[in-house]
Amino acid sequence: MAIQWFPGHMHLTRQAIAERMDAIDVVIEMLDARLPGSSANPLLSELTRGKPALKILNKQDLADPVRTEAWLAYYSAQEKTRALALDAGQSAPARRLVAACRELAPSRRGLSRPMRVLICGIPNVGKSTLINTITGRRATKTGDEAGVTRTEQRIVIEDDVYLCDTAGVLWPRIIVEESGYRLAASGAVGRNAYDDQEVALELLAILACHYSTLLLERYRIDNVEGLEPLPILQAIAQRRGAVGAAGRLNLQKAAEIVIHEFRGGSIGRITLETPEEFVRWREQARDREARRQQLQRERLARDRSGGRGRPDESLDAD
Ligand code: G4P
Repeated sequence: MAIQWFPGHMHLTRQAIAERMDAIDVVIEMLDARLPGSSANPLLSELTRGKPALKILNKQDLADPVRTEAWLAYYSAQEKTRALALDAGQSAPARRLVAACRELAPSRRGLSRPMRVLICGIPNVGKSTLINTITGRRATKTGDEAGVTRTEQRIVIEDDVYLCDTAGVLWPRIIVEESGYRLAASGAVGRNAYDDQEVALELLAILACHYSTLLLERYRIDNVEGLEPLPILQAIAQRRGAVGAAGRLNLQKAAEIVIHEFRGGSIGRITLETPEEFVRWREQARDREARRQQLQRERLARDRSGGRGRPDESLDAD
């Protein structure tokens, strides 16, 4: 699925983060623990220029604990990086967060050298919730839909630790196709950017493969083994009474039910990707992109040579 979303204020966010980088010691990137690779912002490492990074796998209460451990190990193995799993609404996340930041930037301590921390993340990962939990007030409520921005705030977590909150950042382009579905399922992109049925079918394919017991229990389907996602969605429509005139199944309604229940965690604790899967998709996407660029270069060269064939055509001639 091609989700292209780069509204004007995203350019501003990108610029704002880049400008602020000199005065930041640790960058906290909030990720959705149900899709830790797909919810990472590929732009961020470019913008943060090698600053120490704390990855927060938020909404761990909704994620598969075994896969969360695998993702924590994956991120912790990266240079100048620590990773924590959190529920943003849980009490006292600040202590764990500050301890991890101090490990990442040990020289920033005391009032003369306070630690300055920036929180980033795509929309809907829980940035506002975390900040509200830390400050104990509803300071940063945003809209629910992806792309809603807010003004920056500076928050004192401890005497020598400041948190600077900026607007959520979205991708200029989702290069990993698999991520598009997962982001849509999680609610990180606006509703106009995807088709509910397409997303629900992808979600059901993942669930049938990795979480079939949860699927059977939730929707009381007899057996999902070997079933394609469409018959599963049809069975869910039947079970949930999503049936219109003349007994016609309302697959749109069934798709909305599946997506809504996944988001709320009522199907169970689910993680839609493993580190190995995500790394593989990313490599495939890079290869595809490199091939696309190569083709584009060849086309340009052909156009420049006035359509007289590729300049290196003689090399292929034999
Ligand atoms: P954002 O600033 O990054 O855009 O995200 P925000 O904090 O607004 O959180 C988005 C939604 O995710 C909110 O739900 C919030 O309650 C929920 N959320 C945040 N952290 C966690 C977590 O650790 N676990 C779970 N289960 N949910 C979390 P909402 O339904 O959109 O809003 P509300 O009805 O809770 O106010």
